[in-house]
Amino acid sequence: MMTKIQFYFENETQMLEFASKLAVSFQDFFANHRDKGLVIYLNGELGAGKTTLTRNIVQAFGHKGNVKSPTYTLVEEYHLPPYSLYHFDLYRLADPEELEFMGIRDYFRPQTLCLLEWAMRGQGMIPNADIIIQIDYAQTGRNLELQAQNEIGQTIIANFLANQTA
Ligand SMILES: Nc1ncnc2c1ncn2[C@@H]1O[C@H](COP(=O)(O)OP(=O)(O)O)[C@@H](O)[C@H]1O
Ligand SMILES: [Mg+2]
Repeated sequence: MMTKIQFYFENETQMLEFASKLAVSFQDFFANHRDKGLVIYLNGELGAGKTTLTRNIVQAFGHKGNVKSPTYTLVEEYHLPPYSLYHFDLYRLADPEELEFMGIRDYFRPQTLCLLEWAMRGQGMIPNADIIIQIDYAQTGRNLELQAQNEIGQTIIANFLANQTA
């Protein structure tokens, strides 16, 4: 049984706090698994908050500048030693072959966090997710579900929950 946990965020500030804590769990994982990278899919409708959440995670890793939506560029990269973060948005991907041309495999390395919006458009060309984050409109805010897809995802969610009660 893979872990699933749900949250409700009334506003963006609550989502920002969540992003900061999740970033800590990602960093804990990297510190304990030097040979591993992480692949996170962000699912949900346009305007649900996938880019907003990613922006908050990238900033929690220490990035000071803008975090642009990669809608037109497909990927934006952030080098934040010892980590690299790649934010993909495959919404406008016409053909998964394009990913081959951009050397997609080279993005998935140890100590590298890959966050993908519209990952399903790159099906067959990108690794499976360790965690799927599903964001949905709910009342006046957003529901967010963390879904572990494997042992790595389980480890991160367990760490996240442990930090909540610590
Ligand atoms: N609770 C919330 N969490 C995240 N975003 C919110 C929330 N409430 C309102 N918003 C707004 O919703 C929009 C989300 O846009 P964006 O992150 O670009 O969505 P997506 O990348 O999923 O298309 C932003 O304008 C943001 O200000
Ligand atoms: Mg977006």
